[in-house]
Amino acid sequence: MRKELLLCTIMLLSMLQVKATEKETIRISTNETDLILKVAPNGRLYQSYLGKRLMNDIDLKHLPYYINAGSDGSNSPRGWEVYPGSGAEDYFEPALAITHNDGNMTTILSYVSSETQKVDNNVTETKIYLKDKVYPVDVTVHYVTYANENVIKTWTTLKHKEKRPVTLWRYASNMLYFENKRYFLTEFSGDWAKEVNMNTQELLFGKKVLDTKLGSRAAMHTYPFFEVGLDKVPSENEGNVLMGTLGWTGNFQFTFEVDNAGNLRVISGINPYASAYELKPDEVFTTPEFIFTLSDSGTGKASRHIHDWARGYQIKDGKGDRLTLLNNWEATYFDFDEQKLEELMKEAKSLGVDMFLLDDGWFANKYPRSSDNAGLGDWEVNKNKLPNGIPHLVRSAKEAGVKFGIWIEPEMVNPKSELFEKHPEWAIHLPNRETYYFRNQLVLDLSNPKVQDYVFGVVDKIMTENPDLAYFKWDCNSPITNVYSPYLNEKQNQLYINHVRGVYNVFKRVKDKYPDLPMMLCSGGGARCDYEALKYFTEFWCSDNTDPIQRLYIQWGYSHFFPPKSMCAHVTSWNKNTSIKFRTDVAMMCKMGFDISLKEMNENELGYCQSAVANYNRLKTVILDGDFFRLVSPYESNHTAVMHVGKDKKKAILYAYDILPLYGEKIIPVRLQGLDPKKIYKIEEINLMPGETSRLSSNGQTYTGDYLMKIGLNAFTTTGISSRIIEITQQ
Ligand code: DGJ
Repeated sequence: MRKELLLCTIMLLSMLQVKATEKETIRISTNETDLILKVAPNGRLYQSYLGKRLMNDIDLKHLPYYINAGSDGSNSPRGWEVYPGSGAEDYFEPALAITHNDGNMTTILSYVSSETQKVDNNVTETKIYLKDKVYPVDVTVHYVTYANENVIKTWTTLKHKEKRPVTLWRYASNMLYFENKRYFLTEFSGDWAKEVNMNTQELLFGKKVLDTKLGSRAAMHTYPFFEVGLDKVPSENEGNVLMGTLGWTGNFQFTFEVDNAGNLRVISGINPYASAYELKPDEVFTTPEFIFTLSDSGTGKASRHIHDWARGYQIKDGKGDRLTLLNNWEATYFDFDEQKLEELMKEAKSLGVDMFLLDDGWFANKYPRSSDNAGLGDWEVNKNKLPNGIPHLVRSAKEAGVKFGIWIEPEMVNPKSELFEKHPEWAIHLPNRETYYFRNQLVLDLSNPKVQDYVFGVVDKIMTENPDLAYFKWDCNSPITNVYSPYLNEKQNQLYINHVRGVYNVFKRVKDKYPDLPMMLCSGGGARCDYEALKYFTEFWCSDNTDPIQRLYIQWGYSHFFPPKSMCAHVTSWNKNTSIKFRTDVAMMCKMGFDISLKEMNENELGYCQSAVANYNRLKTVILDGDFFRLVSPYESNHTAVMHVGKDKKKAILYAYDILPLYGEKIIPVRLQGLDPKKIYKIEEINLMPGETSRLSSNGQTYTGDYLMKIGLNAFTTTGISSRIIEITQQ
């Protein structure tokens, strides 16, 4: 009897064990990708597979718990732990490191449970609960999958119940592992007016870290996104590639580590530099979102997936329209008055754009904002320049037939300002060292709730006085300098993180109160371009460099991660050696605007710009919401070409630019992409100078999509700095 009972118990236990094992395989999938996690017999959670989606569920059981323990031997639990803490048997960078109340620095997380919920037919959310068996630390790893867009968004929340605060040294958003022969990292780096230069290098044993310590203008030197080519250099149309980006408008860090077994670990999160975080009992620490996609056919497809995801789920009003505009920054800089602005409003109308955007220089009286060394913080209209105030300008714009938008930089202060005189303690600066100024200004301490109220109040006051105001350009020209928060006192290690949280608090309040207000994210050019900020902004300023030739590279780079509708591109007077047509044709592929006085143009040029704006408006749905194809890279050729294809494939636009063709160079046809091979398309060059006729032999002809994609169009020429915009219409 006893024996039977024992047998029964053993059988029951083994059944439970099977059930538990089945349950403890967690599958996180899109239509094209599987991330499979398994709970090992040691109760810990491991990445078992990441790659192309598997067809058959029955294969999951073959996937191992621990992959490639290296020299530790087969009994070692060393594997690809999903969220490894420090101090265990893995000797590489951990995702999490904590000093507990007793000084112990180890954290080992065991699996507790998980839940998966379908948000709708496309979106699924999975939460995985982990805990340390020795210390009361709870970790939740979150995944949201977007099936059609093949995008996975992941972040982590941390909490504990120790008696006193614990110190977090590492708090990654996510860690991924790859087992390939070779790895190639494409990084995006640069500086002011030299944004997103793309460079690729092979990752060999050890670490490559991409990070920033700039605090507020955080992406000035490196951008929060990367590509990793698996086995091969990332390329446009073939090969396996990981593309990842972090939604954090502050210090971020990506660590790429090739370990002893030749596997690659990718850790993404906030840069923990000078930010050992004191986490109080029961306080929840939420990491930023890490967003990634895997492509089996190069970066082009991955970009289109990210663009669709961004428009559908992340960017403020991602599916909505965008306003074309005329900005006065390059036309006037700080030197303007009502009359000049009113003339520009009329010019905006005559160009055909939707809005006039008033830039820096409209505010401050005691220390007038007539250069960048005074006035920031004093958001009262400057009475000398604009005696009738902003309401009058909004009215003038209305009379001229355009909307009115305005520039602000509310997170900053010039020491020469009434705000600084009244509240020096609101600025981040050191009490005991000489102050260093970046662009003559200081960053306001957004870790302080009073400062958050003040910054929100800047926007709120302008909106209350001017309910018809249609747009904000929100600038941020300084990194955090003189790193000391008068508000945080001895808790300086919280500054970088709490400051960014304070910024989000303000962004959120603005969005909650003004949900339909379009806003441009700007940071002395493109130093703010991340998917957390873009929840609150409809678009971002790519660069102060508007030289159209350099813009071709900059726009090429950003387009890897951002849809053209979010990338502001303006026609200016940078590089007057290039024609107005070339400059406009370059701006046309993104969210187009102008930042130039029409007085600089002759009649022909103006006529050309007017017809380009009309074409832009006519083709807006294709440009803003179509699929974007990078066809010929400016990095690999003396020419470059991109195209937009409408989602229904009825209309497409090809943009072809000759940069510096060589004498006698062989010109190769541009092979199009994304068309329907069976459909017949008509070719028509648009954006021609008044009176000019197209020199394209294909102009007016019809071709099948198949022909255009396999044989291509002769869209390039041997004329340097020239361009063609070609409308392609299904017949
Ligand atoms: C930097 C921005 O990138 C420019 O477009 C302009 O708004 C200036 N700031 C104004 O100070």
